[in-house]
Amino acid sequence: MAIFVTGGAGFIGSQFIRDTVVQNPDELVINFDALTYAGNLENLAPVDHLPNYRMVKGDICSDADVLAAIPDGCSAVVNFAAESHVDRSILSATEFVKTNVLGTQTLLDIARHKKVGRFVHISTDEVGGSMEPNQWFSEDMPLNPSSPYAASKTAAEHLVRAAHHTFGLDTVITRTSNNYGPYQFPEKLLPLAISNALHGRNIPVYGDGLQERDWIHVADNTRALGIVLRRGRSGQTYHIGGRNPLKNLDVLKILLKAVGQPESLLTHVTDRLGHDRRYAIDCSKILAELGWEPEIPFEEGLASTIKWYQDNQKWVERTRSGEYKEYYRRMYGETSADTTNA
Ligand code: NAD
Ligand code: TYD
Repeated sequence: MAIFVTGGAGFIGSQFIRDTVVQNPDELVINFDALTYAGNLENLAPVDHLPNYRMVKGDICSDADVLAAIPDGCSAVVNFAAESHVDRSILSATEFVKTNVLGTQTLLDIARHKKVGRFVHISTDEVGGSMEPNQWFSEDMPLNPSSPYAASKTAAEHLVRAAHHTFGLDTVITRTSNNYGPYQFPEKLLPLAISNALHGRNIPVYGDGLQERDWIHVADNTRALGIVLRRGRSGQTYHIGGRNPLKNLDVLKILLKAVGQPESLLTHVTDRLGHDRRYAIDCSKILAELGWEPEIPFEEGLASTIKWYQDNQKWVERTRSGEYKEYYRRMYGETSADTTNA
């Protein structure tokens, strides 16, 4: 049994690998990652000595890279690899189309030719676009993405469904809401706000701060992904959410209270272009079919996440300075680790 995980050096993929290699010692987990600015092999340090873990550096857009790394008889591809930050997609969308769309198609073609058992594709609630007040995004609703990031993730989903419909590839798509937890790159709201709050620095609030996001702890998400990988129905899409929609200002006030800092740190700045107002995901299908529901209450998950950032300030510093790239060089002896987008 071998699982080919793409983007496993990022935030969610690394949590999935840390869980999977420990819980399934008989399964080989291959972490295939291009190590862009978001890929950090320090995230795998707790497990990278285990015999069932292997890292291969490569780009999902490259047939040659993927073919050289993917084993025959691979039981599953789990595709996390993506450009994932909305603000970056507003500055330039080209890398998003390349990795998120072309990269996904490259993997689908190879998975089909290599007769991979199952293709799990990780998508986002952002493909549904902004919800109206009291409206919840369910699996059967039309897709209506707003940002270049969400548009590229939507295109990728269509290609996954097309591979299932046309060629009978065993595919499952998951759409997750906003994840938070340890090892998240400090460009996203919560890790940025936590590290600024811990140092008494201002926290940028886009626009009026009344946008709503549904927050899920990353460990709840990866537990759901393990279940979908093994028991999800072929060709289906499953929503994975925290059942916890909150306005950004409320999230930040809870955070500031938890770290004992004043609300005066909240600094309203120019709003994100085309900012979606409300994401709210209906995850009743996965509970009804597979028995999964989120278990980590937000305030508890936030407290442990704050503690992680407090205890791992060196990780944040190395991530911000780019020093984390040294880890790859030390571990794998290469002198030119990719610093794309760094
Ligand atoms: P991340 O940005 O932390 O990590 C992305 C990883 O993909 C990095 O390790 C990077 O090096 C790798 N990568 C990028 N381009 C690549 C390429 N061409 N070839 C191989 N590897 C490449 O992202 P994340 O937050 O861990 O998100 C993982 C997945 O989950 C993404 O598909 C994202 O769209 C989706 N998602 C994320 C969230 C969230 O809240 N973070 C929510 C919903 C869905
Ligand atoms: P983000 O973490 O970028 O995730 P996404 O855009 O995928 O939801 O942002 C979460 C929310 O926080 C979003 O409404 C934008 C807002 N935001 C801020 O107000 N300030 C910030 O510095 C960042 C990064 C985001």
